[in-house]
Amino acid sequence: MIKKLYNLWPESGLLLRLGALHAINAILQGILLGTLIPILRALLQPIPDFVAAEPWLIVGGIGLIAYAILTIIATPVGFTASMELTAKLRHHVMKHITALPLGWFTTEQKARMARSITADVGNAPNLAVTIGAPAITATLVPTTLILITLFVDWRIALLLLFIMVIALVALTHAGNVAAIADEELEEAATEIAGRAIELGQAQTVLRAAGLGVTGTSRMQQALEEHRITYRRGLQKSMWPDLTFTGVVMSGFIALIVLGTQLLTSSTLSVPDTIALFVIAVRFLEPLGSLIELIGALRAMNNAVTRVQGILDTPSLPKCENGIQTIEHAGITLENVRYSYGDNLALDDVSFHCPPGSTTALVGASGSGKTTVIRAIARFFDVDSGSVHIGGKEITSYDYDSLMQHIAVIFQDVYLFDTSIEDNLRLAKPDATEEELAEAAELACLEEMITRLPNGWKTKVGEAGTSLSGGERQRVSIARAFLKNAPIVLIDEASSALDPENEQAISRAIANLASDGKRTVIVIAHRPTTLAAATQVVALREGKVVELGNPAQLRNGNGFFSKLFKEHEKARSWRIIAG
Ligand SMILES: Nc1ncnc2c1ncn2[C@@H]1O[C@H](COP(=O)(O)OP(=O)(O)OP(=O)(O)O)[C@@H](O)[C@H]1O
Ligand SMILES: [Mg+2]
Repeated sequence: MIKKLYNLWPESGLLLRLGALHAINAILQGILLGTLIPILRALLQPIPDFVAAEPWLIVGGIGLIAYAILTIIATPVGFTASMELTAKLRHHVMKHITALPLGWFTTEQKARMARSITADVGNAPNLAVTIGAPAITATLVPTTLILITLFVDWRIALLLLFIMVIALVALTHAGNVAAIADEELEEAATEIAGRAIELGQAQTVLRAAGLGVTGTSRMQQALEEHRITYRRGLQKSMWPDLTFTGVVMSGFIALIVLGTQLLTSSTLSVPDTIALFVIAVRFLEPLGSLIELIGALRAMNNAVTRVQGILDTPSLPKCENGIQTIEHAGITLENVRYSYGDNLALDDVSFHCPPGSTTALVGASGSGKTTVIRAIARFFDVDSGSVHIGGKEITSYDYDSLMQHIAVIFQDVYLFDTSIEDNLRLAKPDATEEELAEAAELACLEEMITRLPNGWKTKVGEAGTSLSGGERQRVSIARAFLKNAPIVLIDEASSALDPENEQAISRAIANLASDGKRTVIVIAHRPTTLAAATQVVALREGKVVELGNPAQLRNGNGFFSKLFKEHEKARSWRIIAG
């Protein structure tokens, strides 16, 4: 546990210094109690020998002052350290999360991440300080007292050792039960967090289904499961806790019996017996308190393990001295395979996009189109095969530099709850007014901005909810223009758009593609986008099934031709219905 704690913290020296301070304090406590023996021996005589007691009284006095000073030092240091470690650990974990492959971010992982960042990174250092210190005292004081007792009477020392060993065995068992109970409770709490995220994200769907107030049944199930787990944990820990308390109490009785017997048989003197009884009480008291600490210690250990689990998730390997700039905007995929867990999403995908070309990706839902885009933008590393940009494997680039050359326009564009201008400036914080205006014009955003009440300064609402899906996508296209990236990857909005948005997006994409140096890959759902592409790559179940010029493929009898005819049919249906 200590090793785990030590390894986890970015600044483990702080923890070590604090531990050492408490350890010295605990040993000092034991030694201070030990001075009772010579003091009582000197004073509990028919004529008290103050001269013999004096040096020990001085040692005791100095020890007491040292103990007080150490306690005064350790307490604020502990709390400062706890806060400092929490802040550092939180930063460390968040930094690691930003480098994780995107495949990692499932709802479950997001819930675990939220709990780890809010609770675990705070609880672990806090418990390490508030529980760690008494735990060190509760183990080191009894150990020191056993060693001191050894100098007075080996039988009592042996009995103390025996009690300690049995108590620690019982404690380990109680700790294991507590650890399992804590882990089960944490899982139940994570499930609630996951359901809460789901509940927030799916609010519109739930309300439409009339479930807005009561929440999903999965949420209610999670809450009930948490309640049951909590009760089960309490029940399970009851017997191990009682066993431990029984061991400590039996030890106390055994000590009284042995002490009295040694006294009556004159093996032990009266002062030594009194001193040993005092020592025995101070021996059992911290030992007994361990049972109250063990649950919290195991909870801390679990928190540390969970945080470590996140930190152990391999991030995308960074390329030291990676290439900073691309030679040209050509993209090549060679025999790319990629699975999300067991789910094979890309199977031997190969195609080439010459610099300046526009490639349309088509295929049924789940065929792997978005995954292709994610692989090119290096949201994860492919399992086998390779992705080349500008003739070089993407893993050989410096990650941040590579990202400077790529703009991704997602299907569900996320906008920050600030103005349209600020959302655009994310792509280029120092963009001039002219650059902003130009990007807006090319992305067909101008008309929308003039229509909105506060123009550029209009707030877009949380996640951009006050704009329609098509409008959000246009803002995102404007970002790509502003970034002026030579490679643009677009996941075209698949939902039915109003004619105005549909036209605007088509024009904006055409504007992106018209730059002879820019390579565009677009997951196309609209015939206009498809027809304008230089080449089409059709995917089915993660495999490339057709590749070629859209005009030729359209006249053929393959997958693309069928898809195109369906599009045409849907369009005529819409026209008739309209
Ligand atoms: N984050 C993820 N975790 C696990 N599986 C995923 C994830 N994203 C996609 N998949 C799976 O990978 C396969 C390909 O998905 P992908 O999103 O690339 O399809 P798509 O062609 O973009 O579909 P759509 O047209 O619906 O957007 C699907 O079987 C999908 O269920
Ligand atoms: Mg998709």
